[in-house]
Parts: sequence; structure tokens; C-alpha cells
Amino acid sequence: MAAKYGHLIIVLYLTVSGRYVQSEPSCSKYDYEEKLLVKMVRIEFQMEQYKTQMEDSLKRLDNVKNELHKKVIDTEDKMQEVIKETNNKVAENANAIKTLVQNVDENNAKEAITSSPVMFKAIMLADTSPSVGETLVFKTILNNYNNAYNNITGTFTVPKDGNYIFGMTICPTFKKLIVAGFEVDGKKATVHTFYGGPGHECFSVTTTEVLTQGQQVRLKRFPGFSSTTQIQQSDAYRWTMFHGSLIHV
Ligand SMILES: *[C@@H]1O[C@H](CO)[C@@H](O)[C@H](O)[C@H]1NC(C)=O
Repeated sequence: MAAKYGHLIIVLYLTVSGRYVQSEPSCSKYDYEEKLLVKMVRIEFQMEQYKTQMEDSLKRLDNVKNELHKKVIDTEDKMQEVIKETNNKVAENANAIKTLVQNVDENNAKEAITSSPVMFKAIMLADTSPSVGETLVFKTILNNYNNAYNNITGTFTVPKDGNYIFGMTICPTFKKLIVAGFEVDGKKATVHTFYGGPGHECFSVTTTEVLTQGQQVRLKRFPGFSSTTQIQQSDAYRWTMFHGSLIHV
């Protein structure tokens, strides 16, 4: 474009100067061309600078692009990590819930066992002439939840913490005395003196105990009136008996 006008200007100039300024010697015949050349060189130089700047900008853009790319990859990695962590946590929670459910099931099972009645009732002494210090063993079991009563040793082993009530019934022979009562873990808990009446009556004694699991309850003949003692019993008229029940947890 500039070159085109340049030629036009040169032509005009030559025409004009030919007519009016022919006599005056011009400084340079190619003044415009020189100026044009200088301008062209400047423009070329500027173009070169622009090119460099453009290249720099492109380079910077490229760097930004690379950084962005890196950031995207980093973010992706981080997201993967978060997803992994979340998955792990979900798995952990699932396991915790599973354990919880298992515990609940176990507790329910335990509750089912412990909420079943705790009671026993055994009748008929194995030995109707017990010596002092002997455990009164009742052999015939009428009920015995959780098998807490042992009819060989005469021992009730507490299956569950709580408040219990126990009862004993013996029927001493006429005019015979027997001192007997309850023992918890070898310690006297309740004692009673039984004396045989003319009707060979039976006598009952009860006791309440606060007990913890594993404690042992027995009936004993305690010292006193150390004559041979006879106890009466018969299926038809006199049941000797040891029984007990959990009344409160
Ligand atoms: C003890 O109790 C069991 C179960 O009720 C019974 O089979 C057994 O005969 C009893 N033992 C005696 C010595 O009576």
C-alpha cells in the first residue's frame, strides 16, 4: 500500500518539480524513497520486535497452559485420593455397623438367656440324717432353669447378678432338733432351729440375698444340738425342699 502511494507521490513530485522547480537543484532526487526506505526498515524492525513479543507471549501462554495442565492432573490425583479415602471410610463404617449389628445380636441372644427365668426347685434330701457341717442335698429336681442348681453337690450357682429369694423346708422327727440354714460362699446367711412336733410338721424358712454371678448358695446343717438328727420326708405328706428365684436384677 505504502509502496503504491510512494510511486504516486514520486510521479507527482517529478511532474510538479519539472514544471516549477526545475531550476533549483534538489537535495536528493530520491528523498522520498529514502524516507520510505527508512520507514520500511523501522516497520520491519518493529515487526521483528512484535514477533519476538508474540513469541514471548506464546511461550508464556504455553507455560500457563502447562501449569494449568499440571494443576488439573494434581487436582485429579487429589480427587482420586479423596475418593479412595471416602471409600475406605465407607468400608470402615460398614464394618463398624456390621460389628454393631453383631453386638446387638449377641446382646439380644444374651438378653434372651438372661431374661429367661432364673429359678430352681429341688425336693427330697439325699441324706435324712445329715451330720454337722454337711450340705443338705435335694436330689429330685422339679425345675432348674439354666441348670444353676446341682443335685449332686446341693449347690446353687448364681447365674446372674441380682436380688434372690430362697426357701427351705424340712420336717424334723418328733422331739428332734436340728440347726440348719443358708450359706453363701461358705458364710452363714440365715440360720434356724427346727424342732420336731407331734405331727411331724414341716417348717419353712426364707431368705433374701443380693448376689453376684458365680456366688454359691447351699443349705447346711450348722453346729448345735449335736444328737443324731432325723428328718422325715415322703412323697405323699412331707416334701423337704430347697428352692430359689431371681426377683430383681
Ligand atoms: C439329678 O437331676 C437329674 C435331672 O433332673 C436327674 O436325672 C437325676 O436322677 C438327679 N440325681 C439324683 C441323684 O436324683
